[in-house]
Amino acid sequence: MRAPAPDDAPRRLEPWSLDQGADRVRALFSESFEGEPEASVSAPGRLTVVGDHTDYSGGLTLATVTPHRTFVAARRRDDQAIRVVAAHGDQIEGPGPRWEGALGSLEPGYDGWPSRVAGVLWALAERGYPIGGMDIAIDSCLPLGTGLGSSVALSAAVGRAADGVWGLALDTESGAVELAEACWEAENTYVGFPCGRLDQHTVLRCEEGEAALLDFSETPPHITHYPLYFHEYGLSLLLIDTGPRRDGWRDAYARRSRAAVRAADVLGLPSLRELKRDEALARVAALEDNATRIRARHIVSESMRVQATVAELSGLGPAHDRFTEIGALMLASHQSLSADYRVSTPVLDLAVDSAFAAGALGARMAGAGFGGCVVALVRTNAIAQIADQVDAVLVSQGYPQPTFLEV
Ligand code: GLA
Repeated sequence: MRAPAPDDAPRRLEPWSLDQGADRVRALFSESFEGEPEASVSAPGRLTVVGDHTDYSGGLTLATVTPHRTFVAARRRDDQAIRVVAAHGDQIEGPGPRWEGALGSLEPGYDGWPSRVAGVLWALAERGYPIGGMDIAIDSCLPLGTGLGSSVALSAAVGRAADGVWGLALDTESGAVELAEACWEAENTYVGFPCGRLDQHTVLRCEEGEAALLDFSETPPHITHYPLYFHEYGLSLLLIDTGPRRDGWRDAYARRSRAAVRAADVLGLPSLRELKRDEALARVAALEDNATRIRARHIVSESMRVQATVAELSGLGPAHDRFTEIGALMLASHQSLSADYRVSTPVLDLAVDSAFAAGALGARMAGAGFGGCVVALVRTNAIAQIADQVDAVLVSQGYPQPTFLEV
């Protein structure tokens, strides 16, 4: 739910506290199904710091989670029925706020938001977990469809709710890995979207205030946690939400992942990750086909930027220099996603440029692209001024007013 903006001031989207979110979703549950839920859980959004479109090539990503979350309240049923109410169901693709199905007769296929709920229950049942019917209520303060992993936050929260009511022992470290894999199967097999594993393993395995280095050369991805201590140095990540991704973005995404496979094939490798670091860029530069070459150049160079960002985060040099360098790596990542990978849009480019011009240390589009969010590394005390300037530039160029979120 977007906070009302006074006059034409930049719009800020504040997260709900865990208690607020739980109260809202429990109230929605009781209104919709009568009685009380047995479990009330949540899952955050995924924010890529550096490293997009690397996961399906065995590359690296540095990601964190948003304080904005999707909340789910649920109760077991004695039959196989799945009854779902989603507070924002009429604002996103799907049948509206309510959906009903039955566990034993779920058929893979995309039908809007319910397939994220049904998909994860289907995947858990396929894995042999003893689950049955459920009543489920959903509410969220996470922007939907703008590149912050809202679809996966929904699957993950529903998976946690199933764990809560059926006692599946998924609330451990290895349980989180298994649930992330079930959510990935839901997205790939049930929904039919050929995504990588970034969103699922970030949302379920990363905590607020930390950055997760995900290494996709292993399946499930190996994760290393780093403290994300920007706040201690007076810095914040400012998200500029420019609105929903453009129609047809899933097809464009699928074409990118096929190009990645093609590039690896031409080089005679199982994945681009197998390129030896020192020779990687030279071998990619020798690829004949222009489109394949520039897509591969992004994938290979983006993982290098992730390594460089982690080195700065955990480095011992003067903090100011390290943060300036991280900002520069974010800008280079955006440049590569825009010029080589071609997943940016004019409004994302403008948001990045105007945030930098307004004083951000760096900025980049975050997530799949084709619209959605930009993340900027900013001084916390300059947030209002940067938001004012970015807002003014976007609106003056005829774009809708963006919404700002702070991480
Ligand atoms: C989407 C996909 C992820 C990843 C990102 C881009 O969010 O679901 O697997 O590829 O795009 O980094």
